[in-house]
Amino acid sequence: MSVKLSTRDEQLLHGQHGEAAQMAMRILVRMAEVQGAAEMMDVSQAHIDGCGLLSETGLEFAETLAAKGGKVCIPTTLNMGPLDLQNWRQFLPATSRNEDFAAKAIRQAKAYTDMGCIPTWTCAPYQSYLTPRFGRQIAWGESNAICYANSVLGARTNRYGDFIDICAAITGRVPKCGLHLKQNRKGQILLRLIDIDPAIMRSNYFFAILGHLVGSLTEDEIPVIEGLPVDVSSDQLKALCAAAASSGSVALFHAIGLTPEANTLEEAFQGGKPERVIDIRLSDLQKSRADLSTAKEGDDLDLVVLGCPHFSFDEFRELARLIRGQREKGKTLHPNVKVVVISCQTSYALLQRSEFLDVLTDFGAEITLDTCIFHTPMVPPDTKVIMTNSGKCAYYAPGELGVQVAFGSMAECVESAVKGHVCQKEAIV
Ligand code: F3S
Repeated sequence: MSVKLSTRDEQLLHGQHGEAAQMAMRILVRMAEVQGAAEMMDVSQAHIDGCGLLSETGLEFAETLAAKGGKVCIPTTLNMGPLDLQNWRQFLPATSRNEDFAAKAIRQAKAYTDMGCIPTWTCAPYQSYLTPRFGRQIAWGESNAICYANSVLGARTNRYGDFIDICAAITGRVPKCGLHLKQNRKGQILLRLIDIDPAIMRSNYFFAILGHLVGSLTEDEIPVIEGLPVDVSSDQLKALCAAAASSGSVALFHAIGLTPEANTLEEAFQGGKPERVIDIRLSDLQKSRADLSTAKEGDDLDLVVLGCPHFSFDEFRELARLIRGQREKGKTLHPNVKVVVISCQTSYALLQRSEFLDVLTDFGAEITLDTCIFHTPMVPPDTKVIMTNSGKCAYYAPGELGVQVAFGSMAECVESAVKGHVCQKEAIV
């Protein structure tokens, strides 16, 4: 099927807006053909995931577009990058391999910023800058951000992978299909929370466990969750999105009475019926929690990783509160354990203006910005066991980092960092 193109699309395709825009448009039109889209549509904002240094090809692609004069034509933020651009020497030992990696990462960053991207360097762009409004058509990369934008904000984006994201940003156009269209956003599966104590549903920890379960139950279908409280925080929804988009490929969920396209069951299913109904009980959550750990209670701990997705200011505040609690008991960071917190410049700027930064650094927590533990070689090679409060990090760490992982609440992570071994005794699930 041929794709209907606007006058501007034709101009882009024929090089009237420059060589880079022509290359980007060619890719997008081919993508539209593959997806069976009848026409193209405008997007008003982009978030680039392809700015991590996953391959030499990614660097070559970005530098080629920049050299051809590529410029974004809509506000475009950047996902985490391959390097803490200001403090990378603190985290990467001075080897020639690391120097080479850093040099390429800096070139990659320059190519994207030369094209006009805003150097946000965060995988939680919805918490920091240019948060899209309800109904906005956008082109976002990064699985957790896509899920958050669609589900929590009610903006509309498909899953834009590396390379396509920057093409959308340069042209301001995407194939008109998928989650950009209201009829494709209706719920498919109903997940009912049954007899879960409301006290359990107050912690971020519960939302990571629930997200992991939702992803594994639904894969890429659109789940509708019934039974969540309405006073849920942005960090809790962030934890849910990140975990659901990892164990499954959830790009959109609805939560009755909570997310903006699901005031009622009828609205969430757009007047239709669920294809399946699944009840979630405490025992399912307990199993989901157990699935997220390969290490066990009492195992020696090497590293605590917090901030996947990137830590918000509220999470820094909570971490400082927990550390203070340990310090009041005379406890300090165990000498064999390293604590790394990953965040972005905007949350860090707020942290610097608070009393919490000193609490964290006095304890020995190391804060790294702009990057991600999976995309920069910052985990010491002798690391065997890590602990995290992130469902996404717990899901990927054994395969990607070759370590054992223990999943726990933020409080359990802090307690384990003090004791030097894994403690998972939080009562909730
Ligand atoms: Fe962000 Fe990396 Fe986690 S991109 S969501 S810190 S895996």
